Amino acid sequence: MNIRTSVSLKNYTTFGIDVTAPRLIQINSVQDYRDYLKANPHSASQAMVLGGGSNVLFVDEPAFDLLQISISGISIEKQDDGTSFVRAGAGVVWHDLVMHTLDANLAGIENLSLIPGCCGAAPMQNIGAYGVELKDVFHSLEAIDRLTGELKTFSPQECRFGYRTSVFKEELKDKYIISAITLRLTDAEHAEVNTSYGAIAQTLGEIGADNPTPRDVSSAVIKIRESKLPDWKKYGNAGSFFKNPVIPDAQFEQLKEARPEVPSYPAGEGFTKVPAGWLIQHAGWKGARNGDAGTWPHQALVLVNFGKASGRELLALARNIRDDVEQKFGIHLEPEVNIIGLKHSDF
Ligand code: EPU
Repeated sequence: MNIRTSVSLKNYTTFGIDVTAPRLIQINSVQDYRDYLKANPHSASQAMVLGGGSNVLFVDEPAFDLLQISISGISIEKQDDGTSFVRAGAGVVWHDLVMHTLDANLAGIENLSLIPGCCGAAPMQNIGAYGVELKDVFHSLEAIDRLTGELKTFSPQECRFGYRTSVFKEELKDKYIISAITLRLTDAEHAEVNTSYGAIAQTLGEIGADNPTPRDVSSAVIKIRESKLPDWKKYGNAGSFFKNPVIPDAQFEQLKEARPEVPSYPAGEGFTKVPAGWLIQHAGWKGARNGDAGTWPHQALVLVNFGKASGRELLALARNIRDDVEQKFGIHLEPEVNIIGLKHSDF
C-alpha cells in the first residue's frame, strides 16, 4: 500500500480535471485493502474507488480518500472444450488484457479493444462496443466487502448486467470493491467473429480482411475508434457522456415521421434505442465549444476538456445539451459518466 497526500487527479482521470485528492491510496492486493480498512475504518467507508478514472467527472474537490486499485496479474486456464478461463486483477488495463488474450490466440473481447479503463471497472457498467458487451463473455468476479474486507464471488446472474449497468451501480453501489474478474474465452480458430456492427464490416473490407480473424476485428475496431473518438491523452474525455436513450415505440414513430433519417436499434418489446450522439448533433451541438469545454467534432456524444476546463464548466455544458435535446426532441438524456460531487438526482 502506498499513501500520498495532496495529489492532483489531473493525470488520474481521463477527463484531466485538476482537482486535488487529500489522500490517494494505492491498493496492490486484497490484503492491502484489509490493512487500510483496519487502520482507517471511518475513512474506508467514505472512500471512493478510482480505478482507471475513465468514467468520472469531478465537479468539486473531493473531501475523501481516493483508492487506486492496482491489483495486477493475468492468468489463463485452458479447458478441454476449446475454451479458456482468463482471470485478471482489477488493476490490469483493459486494453492490455484484450491484447494479451489475442496473443494467447483467444477470442471474445476483440470488439472491446481500446476501451479505456481497468478490468475492475469493466463489469461495473458492463462495458460494450461494436456489438459485444462484457456480459457476453463474463464468467465471474471477486469483490471485497468494503466494510468487512471479506471476499465474495459473484456469478453473472448476481451481477445483474444491463445496458451500461450492473448491481454494482445500483443496489450494491459503494458496497464492494472488485478485485479480479474471470472471463470465458474461446480458442481463436473455433471462434465466430462478430462483425454485425455496420462500421466493422466496412473497415475489414478496407484493410483487406476477407476471412477476418479476431485479431483483424480488433484492428478494425481500433481503426474506427481512433478515427471517431478523441485520444484522452491529448483531449480529456470520458467516452460517451450520456447513455443512448430508450424510448417507447410510439414516441419513436413520431420522431421518425418528423426525421425519417434518425438511426435506431431495437431495445426490447415496445421500446427503441436512439443514439444520443445523433440527437445532440441534430440539436446543433456537434463541435460546440464554450471555452475549453466542448463536444468532439467527430462524435457529439463525447464531451471534451480541450485544455483547462473545470468540472463545473463541463457539467454546465452537459446540462445545456440535455435541456436543449429535451426541448427539441422531447427525449431526456441520462449521464453515463459518474459525476462526483453531485447527487445523481441533482444532474
Ligand atoms: N451519430 C450521429 N452524430 C454523432 C454521433 C453519432 O449522427 O455525433 C450517429 C451515428 O452516425 C450512428 C449512431 O449515431 O448512426 C451511433 O453512433 P456510434 O456508432 O458512434 O455509437 P454510439 O451509439 O454513439 C455507442 C457506445 C460507445 C461505443 C459505440 C460503438 C453508448 C452510450 N455508447 O456509441 O461506447 O463505442 O456505441 O459500439 O452506448 C462509451 O460507452 O463510452 C462508448 C464510447
